[in-house]
Amino acid sequence: MRITMIGTGYVGLVSGACFADFGHQVTCVDKDAGKIAALHRGEIPIYEPGLDELVAANVKAGRLDFTTDLTLPVGEADAVFIAVGTPSRRGDGHADLSYVYAAAKEIAAALKGFTVVVTKSTVPVGTGDEVERLIRETNPTADAAVASNPEFLREGAAIRDFKFPDRIVIGTADERARKVMGEIYRPLSLNQGPLMYTARRTAELIKYAANAFLATKITFINEMADLAEKVGADVQDVARGIGMDNRIGSKFLHAGPGFGGSCFPKDTRALVQTAHDHDVPVRIVEAVLAVNDNRKRAMARKVSHALGGNMRGKTIAVLGLTFKPDTDDMREAPSIPLVTGLTDMGAKVKAFDPAGMAQAKAELPDITYCEDAYDCAKGADALVIVTEWVQFRALDLPRLKAAMAQPIVVDLRNIYRPAEMAEHGFSYHSVGRGD
Ligand code: UGA
Repeated sequence: MRITMIGTGYVGLVSGACFADFGHQVTCVDKDAGKIAALHRGEIPIYEPGLDELVAANVKAGRLDFTTDLTLPVGEADAVFIAVGTPSRRGDGHADLSYVYAAAKEIAAALKGFTVVVTKSTVPVGTGDEVERLIRETNPTADAAVASNPEFLREGAAIRDFKFPDRIVIGTADERARKVMGEIYRPLSLNQGPLMYTARRTAELIKYAANAFLATKITFINEMADLAEKVGADVQDVARGIGMDNRIGSKFLHAGPGFGGSCFPKDTRALVQTAHDHDVPVRIVEAVLAVNDNRKRAMARKVSHALGGNMRGKTIAVLGLTFKPDTDDMREAPSIPLVTGLTDMGAKVKAFDPAGMAQAKAELPDITYCEDAYDCAKGADALVIVTEWVQFRALDLPRLKAAMAQPIVVDLRNIYRPAEMAEHGFSYHSVGRGD
């Protein structure tokens, strides 16, 4: 199959490289000439484990190419995927669809022969209808079908998620489009793979419902963590105890500082807006958003509490800044309100992150950036673990303690055991473990 991917952001680049790896002929298009030139030089603009190698191997094999002009590749394509950004619109929380619609019009003008136009970007219910209308308006003779094929990739695990998906959702009623999409995903469906065909609007809603449900699970266990702290219970065991019930499932029940990233906050906000527009308020999702925002802001108070309430002149070491490990992404990271809260309280903040420091400097310019975890801990009155990078999971505890001014650790990801930390002489505070 010949595939054109519009947008070389996170989703576009990962999907394009993986489709090429399946054996398809893929051209990735981006308006940003600098980005395309960098990709031609073999430079990958995002941090995703394994992506460099995957791109390089498929470029070398002649299956993956990059260009700024969509005309030729769209004309030759069996399927054109729209994988451009859909940021939250300032003010109202709706997804900003201007990039999607601009892409649809440009694609329309370049279509030749039967082509499936696929929205891969996360788009509100009904966007596919508008994309179809724009294509018909721009090029009335075009032979195109519009499908929705949402992605369920996690940053940091995107290639694995693409190649071993729990399911692939394809939303279109057009038989020819279903055939093309089935062919594109054939390598995944050979062993009765998890291909699911639905109506287009249903596929669009599945994406939002999935993210909102996962965000709800996280927020639920975070509230249980707060309760566990008060009643002297252990939220990790609560999560295991409920997660072993197959009806609940064990994943996404890890309590922490609140969810962040480029998807959950944005998508839950957009779902709330869509629901409002249709006069069907989704109160659970509204509550999830409010509880999560509060939680992120409350983390600075948790640190202050661990230090006895007075933060003025204190030095706080922060380990991990990105919204989760294995990414350099700082979008809506819990570290941002935490660090801002700590500095507002009069503390000095030092920080270290294995991949996110360049991005973090733009968000948090007024703190000290360190070489590694031990450099960060030097002279600190407390050390806060915000992101559970593997590098932080087996720190040399005596060395850490010797470096610090006071042996206080606030572990917002529960990556250490309270007994172990006590043995090493730390005053240890974690999430939802009754301490
Ligand atoms: C999420 C979804 O997991 C993907 O399926 C989806 O495709 C993607 O959004 C998207 O819509 O593009 P991602 O944002 O990369 O992926 O990251 P997650 O691993 O889901 O983590 C999101 C946030 O939840 C992080 O801040 C993480 O620390 C937090 N989290 C996750 C918890 O606090 N506890 C958990 O148990 C799981």
